[in-house]
Amino acid sequence: MRSDFLTIANSVRSFAGVDIATGIPKLRAYGGYTGPAIKPITQRHVSEVARATNVPISAVGGVSTWEDVIEYMMIGATTIQICTSIMWHGYDFFKEVLDDLSEYMQRERLDSFEQIRGKALPHIMPIEELDDEPALMAQVDPDKCTNLLKGGCELCGKSCFYGAIEFDPKLILYRDKCDGCGLCIEVCPAEALRLLPEK
Ligand SMILES: Cc1cc2nc3c(=O)[nH]c(=O)nc-3n(C[C@H](O)[C@H](O)[C@H](O)COP(=O)(O)O)c2cc1C
Ligand code: SF4
Ligand code: SF4
Repeated sequence: MRSDFLTIANSVRSFAGVDIATGIPKLRAYGGYTGPAIKPITQRHVSEVARATNVPISAVGGVSTWEDVIEYMMIGATTIQICTSIMWHGYDFFKEVLDDLSEYMQRERLDSFEQIRGKALPHIMPIEELDDEPALMAQVDPDKCTNLLKGGCELCGKSCFYGAIEFDPKLILYRDKCDGCGLCIEVCPAEALRLLPEK
C-alpha cells in the first residue's frame, strides 16, 4: 500500500488517575494524553518514519513553542499541527508561533524550511548502533560553570549515577567514569556541560 501523505501521530492512550478519597477513577474510560509530555514519543515516531521513507509527514504532538516546530522540521516533518496549545492559549497562539518563526528565518537567513528539513536525521541512529560510534563524554566549560566560577551549584552531581562528578568543594569531572548519558547536561542551569568525543 502506498501513501501520499502521513499524519504522525495523535494522542497517546492513557489513564487519568484515581481520586484516592473515593477510589473512583477521574475518568471512567481510557483517554488520549496530549500536549508537551507526548512530544518525545511523537518525535521518535516522526524521525523513525522520516529515516525510512520520503513520504511527506504532518507531525502532531506536543508543540508548545516555535522551537518545537523547528525541531519537528529538523527531524523530517513537512507540516506541523497544534491542538493542546491552542486549547490552552486560544487561536492567538498560531500568530505568536508564526511571528517567532519569521524572526527565526530572518535571523538564520533562511528562505524556506526546505533548508533545514531533515537536518537532524543523519545524526539519529538506533541504540544498538551506538556501540560502533565513538564514545561521547561530558565536558565542563569552566567559563560557564557557576560552581567553578563562584561556588554554590552542585546540580549536575545529583543526577550523575556513574560517579563521574564530585565536588571538593569545586567540581571535578572524571571523564573516564562518564557513560555519556547526558543527564547532567539537562539539569545544568548554566549550559556549562556538553558531550564531546573521547580524546
Ligand atoms: C480535546 C481533544 C479532542 C481531540 N479530538 C480528536 C478527534 O476527534 N480526532 C482526532 O483524530 N484527534 C483528536 N484529538 C487529537 C489531536 O488532533 C492531536 O492529534 C493531539 O492532541 C496531539 O497534538 P497536541 O499535543 O498538539 O494536542 C483531540 C485532542 C484533544 C486534546
Ligand atoms: S553524561 Fe551522564 S555519566 Fe557523564 S557526567 Fe553527565 S550524568 Fe554523569
Ligand atoms: S550544574 Fe552546571 S553550573 Fe552547576 S555545577 Fe554542574 S556544570 Fe556547574
